[in-house]
Amino acid sequence: MKHRSEFEKVVYDGKFRILISEEKIEKRLRELGKQITEDYRDKNPIMIGVLNGGFIFMADIVRHVEIDLEVDFIKISSYGNATTSSGEVKMLKDINAEVSGRHILVVEDIVDTGLSIRFLEKKFLELEPASLKFVSFLLKKDNARVEYNIDYVGFEIPNEFVVGYGLDHKQILRNLPAIYVMD
Ligand code: PRP
Repeated sequence: MKHRSEFEKVVYDGKFRILISEEKIEKRLRELGKQITEDYRDKNPIMIGVLNGGFIFMADIVRHVEIDLEVDFIKISSYGNATTSSGEVKMLKDINAEVSGRHILVVEDIVDTGLSIRFLEKKFLELEPASLKFVSFLLKKDNARVEYNIDYVGFEIPNEFVVGYGLDHKQILRNLPAIYVMD
């Protein structure tokens, strides 16, 4: 029997339900890009992508922001291979940019418990930026375990396990072009 990849099972067998289509993503990217362009005009921000999950949203959102900006990346992990947050955030790769006195916009794929955002907020505030804001493609509002503030949100979603558009299941399925719910 021919081996079928998880990607094929999701996309062609309907094993997962589509939650946010490519068309909806593109429309929201245009709206967010316009808003960020207006808010950061003449500020030359540093947009810091949070790896791994944020890599697709980061690549898309920077192409919708029509001002000069710089990019850097930080890699943290709170889930490992589990489907629920471990509650412990680890930094696996730090940024290289000098951010003191600069406008930082952190780019996340999803905010779930909020622990990662709190970790990043504390870390970046210590570096004394001119401003610090967060944009997250997805937000699971009902799952917050700590208080946090997200300045720009792509979509609020229910507390379900989602994959695609950067988000993984056991490290695969990040390359799905839309957001799917795993039932
Ligand atoms: C995910 C996601 C966020 C974090 C959100 O990362 O990219 O960084 O979890 O969860 P929280 O609000 O409960 O902290 P994950 O640890 O799965 O690593 P990955 O991005 O490499 O998949």
